[in-house]
Amino acid sequence: MTDKIKEYIAEAEAFTTANKEELEAFRIKFLGKKGILNDFFAEFKNVPNDQKKEFGQVINNLKKAAESKVAQIQEAIESKEEAKGVYGDLTRPGEPFAVGSRHPISIVKNQIVDIFSTIGFNVSEGPEIEDDWHNFTALNLPEYHPARDMQDTFFIQTNPDVLLRTHTSSVQVRYMEENKPPIRTISPGRVFRNEAISARSHCIFHQIEGLYIDKDVSFADLKQTLLYFTKEMFGKSKIRLRPSYFPFTEPSAEIDIYWGLKTETDYRITKGTGWLEIGGCGMVDPNVLTNCGIDPVKYNGFAFGMGVERIAMLLYGIGDIRMFYENDVRFLEQFKSSI
Ligand code: PHE
Repeated sequence: MTDKIKEYIAEAEAFTTANKEELEAFRIKFLGKKGILNDFFAEFKNVPNDQKKEFGQVINNLKKAAESKVAQIQEAIESKEEAKGVYGDLTRPGEPFAVGSRHPISIVKNQIVDIFSTIGFNVSEGPEIEDDWHNFTALNLPEYHPARDMQDTFFIQTNPDVLLRTHTSSVQVRYMEENKPPIRTISPGRVFRNEAISARSHCIFHQIEGLYIDKDVSFADLKQTLLYFTKEMFGKSKIRLRPSYFPFTEPSAEIDIYWGLKTETDYRITKGTGWLEIGGCGMVDPNVLTNCGIDPVKYNGFAFGMGVERIAMLLYGIGDIRMFYENDVRFLEQFKSSI
């Protein structure tokens, strides 16, 4: 009988499967209630006393062999299942990645940068936290100048010399301080004004300002540059420069483009005039050139500035400026195709 048991031990040790049902059949065959082991245990009482010890040992060996086999195969099967859980069915078709989209402000900013780069303008950037000199004083806005009130400024409470820039003209000052004419640069960036938030204005928005400094630059050069831009950007070929005032330009003008009066929306956004204001411009004031280390007798030039949000609102028909900052995915998703 011991030989028979040893054969079973060999069988149990050789057993292998990757299948749960086969493993269960094996377990029942050896360790089940009516299994081989129980049969042998039942035999135990019939074994002569002098053989009981050896018999007992061999059955125990069979029990251990069967039990450890079941445990070992079970573990192997489970770890395989775990791996399946991580990778899933490797033959399944892949799931598409959720592709993000560029923010409409970035799309429009990039478009403007591209348009000006084809006529030789480079891009310049500067700090959002500025000092008084670069944001105001160098731009012909000395302390107590009433025009400082035109731009409600966020100051850093403890130090009136530190503020959040109210326009990217500050970048132009920095650029003129560091570079010699001829200068052709545009300065895109975020600006800050202490204004009430509404559908039309926000305390944080984006500007693109342009600066052209060379010998014998004329107002006609300014107008042609702006006309070229509005044609490229909006497909509109009529602009008008309306006299205005900025401390850093003389003469100064507001830039209007003729939008037309075809649809109801055209009437609404142009207030029935057909004309839309998109920014300010002018010939750089000689004082500003002097402040920035450029000789105003030798050089002159023009500057212009416009709001990126306003242009994006016009291009995409967006009625509320606050939508740009809410990061609502339903809004942002609509710009996927515009990248
Ligand atoms: N810096 C002006 C503003 O933010 C815009 C401007 C730029 C006007 C350049 C004229 C020339 O309002």
